[in-house]
Amino acid sequence: MTVYSQTSTNSYLSQSNVNFIECCHLQTDYISSLQRPILNGINCQINQGEFVVLLGLNGAGKSTLLKSLVGLVPLVKGEIQINGVSVNNQNLPQIRRDVGMLFQGGGLIRQLSAIDNVLCGRLAVRKTGQTLFGFPQRDRILAGELLTQLGLKEQAYQKISKLSGGQQQRVAIARALIQSPQILLADEPTTGLDVIASQQVMATLAELHQQGLTIITVLHDLALATEYAQRAIILDNGKVVYDGKCENLPAKFSDMREQNLN
Ligand SMILES: Nc1ncnc2c1ncn2[C@@H]1O[C@H](COP(=O)(O)OP(=O)(O)OP(=O)(O)O)[C@@H](O)[C@H]1O
Ligand SMILES: [Mg+2]
Repeated sequence: MTVYSQTSTNSYLSQSNVNFIECCHLQTDYISSLQRPILNGINCQINQGEFVVLLGLNGAGKSTLLKSLVGLVPLVKGEIQINGVSVNNQNLPQIRRDVGMLFQGGGLIRQLSAIDNVLCGRLAVRKTGQTLFGFPQRDRILAGELLTQLGLKEQAYQKISKLSGGQQQRVAIARALIQSPQILLADEPTTGLDVIASQQVMATLAELHQQGLTIITVLHDLALATEYAQRAIILDNGKVVYDGKCENLPAKFSDMREQNLN
């Protein structure tokens, strides 16, 4: 299946070893309940075409970091650059075209059909006048094609509330892909899914990665992380505590727990 076709011809991207995503000293506002900022000096770089897993205990700051990449989290310090473009209010429309996001919990509208949810991913690039009387036919065709390629042809006109968790997750992937992003951020795409559905969702991400997408996904399942990702970044208390190969990940968590106890 070819689910994804990259449309950008930006030559900067074709250089190897380019830091496609660059996070420098990211810090959010101080939160009194945590007695620290949620992101507390994050530095990391991700190259074009990487498949990176973001790991960490509940509350470590994983979702906040992903959201910051699409300008949903105000920073008090630091800078994010994506493909050489600084993430700021002025550049947000471009950033959000290049970066698709699967939110934790799916973020789908349960009363709408699968195809209408996928079309919602098109709102960022359509002016209000263009959708006042419904989406253009070519958008509907594209949304239908994406759902078919993700194995959801029969479910295209069913309400989200009638779909299984794994099917909903694939609708969320289709919604992120309809804008032809270069980067896909997936926040816990397998949480709540059974073993087979989890594998299917991860296999879909792996296929998109093969087709050229840069993928950053949050997971809690270390076995899935090791099986699919090329690199792991582990967060703890808003800081990067490990950035490297997906080897011996359980040991990294044991070390982290011991350090937190000391
Ligand atoms: N808007 C907010 N206001 C105050 N605190 C917040 C806000 N958003 C997140 N937090 C806190 O920041 C911390 C990090 O939250 P975040 O959602 O990034 O964690 P996470 O690593 O994704 O955790 P999980 O694995 O549970 O999804 C948590 O302690 C959370 O309670
Ligand atoms: Mg989270």
